[in-house]
Amino acid sequence: MIKKSKVFCGQTLAILTGGGDTPAVNSSIESIRNRASMLGFNVYGIINGWKGLLGEGNVVDITHVPYEGWYGGSALGSSRTNPFPSKKNPENRVPQVLKNLERYGIDVLVTIGGDDTNGAAKRLYETEGVPVIGFPKTIDNDLRTHTTHHYNGKDIESVICPGFPSGAKGIAEFTGRLKTTAESHNRIFVLEIMGRDAGWLTGSAVFGGSNLALIPEYEITKERKEQFFEKVKEAYQNSPTKSLIIPTSEGVRWYDEESQKVDVVHASSEVDEYGHPRFGGISGRIASEISKNIGVDARAQISGYYARSGTCRKYDRRLTMTLADKIVDLLLREDYGKMPVLSSVVPYLEVEEFNTKTIDMGNVENQPLPMDYYDTANFSFTEAYHDFLQKIMRRLRFKEFLPDFKKVEPAENKETKT
Ligand code: F6P
Repeated sequence: MIKKSKVFCGQTLAILTGGGDTPAVNSSIESIRNRASMLGFNVYGIINGWKGLLGEGNVVDITHVPYEGWYGGSALGSSRTNPFPSKKNPENRVPQVLKNLERYGIDVLVTIGGDDTNGAAKRLYETEGVPVIGFPKTIDNDLRTHTTHHYNGKDIESVICPGFPSGAKGIAEFTGRLKTTAESHNRIFVLEIMGRDAGWLTGSAVFGGSNLALIPEYEITKERKEQFFEKVKEAYQNSPTKSLIIPTSEGVRWYDEESQKVDVVHASSEVDEYGHPRFGGISGRIASEISKNIGVDARAQISGYYARSGTCRKYDRRLTMTLADKIVDLLLREDYGKMPVLSSVVPYLEVEEFNTKTIDMGNVENQPLPMDYYDTANFSFTEAYHDFLQKIMRRLRFKEFLPDFKKVEPAENKETKT
């Protein structure tokens, strides 16, 4: 009998996760690890993103350890470390990365991340020839995956990144819960949602029963602000429960009366190593202006890390496994500098390898929400966006409770009437 050795026996593949975690990162790690070890690779995990390849390095062996892919977050840890010189850290740490890749005997590096982590990986591949494969990840869904959404005879350039389906479901649930409190107090909630400069995640609140929405892609000038208040007034008057939930992206650009400028609201003056500032606080500003302008009690609610945390949802689980299948292809062909993505927006059961493709990491960039998905005149998401979301998740069903109570007259009035 001839004993066949596995193709990559004696070679090492390392996985790192960078940027904000998502509920689908561990599922991605587990799926890639399983397939790579099946091909014969030793599989290493780099601790805390690029940081784990600096200094002495921080690397663990994950080839045979039990791994829980449904558990959210990243068991390898994550950071926003940039090995290339940045404004925040001008030191070029690429030589340290290269040295550690060699010291630990890493033959192939798989980077799970958004455009920052994969952008750095792309540069390492292009400038230093490091064999790199990218893997998409972000709840913001703003990484250009060249995924086509066929809608009503039109092809919309859309995006599906692992992490977004779970994050979107979380936001829909959060919104649905908030509704009962908004209804009880006849309030307007301005619900602030992560997503940085893109409104993809904000849109998922519509499946939780939200009304109207504000996104970073459509800046709110002085004039648009007036139109927005008019729409809020109208929606509130038409609301049977006299309550509204208005999802608002953390990165919304809003006209400020004092400075007379359109600007974002920062949570702090700090920027990370990729030059991103921290957003936070726009909902408070908008809620108080709504209260002042239309005379309804409006409150701010920040959903924050809710979308990023918790367990991996079914769609993401299947998506990460399918994209990892595509990595097997790339490894066997020794085709580096590529990233597997979904070719078209498809429902759960059609998330299959035949619906995937690879893109050149040279094309790694941001993609904002396409305007096909947002109705600027009505400050709301379009039917095309609903269709996009419907493919990824089911519309959540929340009970409606609109009792028809009969008003009771005081007893004294009844007496005088008889
Ligand atoms: O990129 C994911 C994200 O959650 C953004 O939506 C948000 O602006 C940012 O990360 C927050 O990052 P951090 O947790 O590092 O402050």
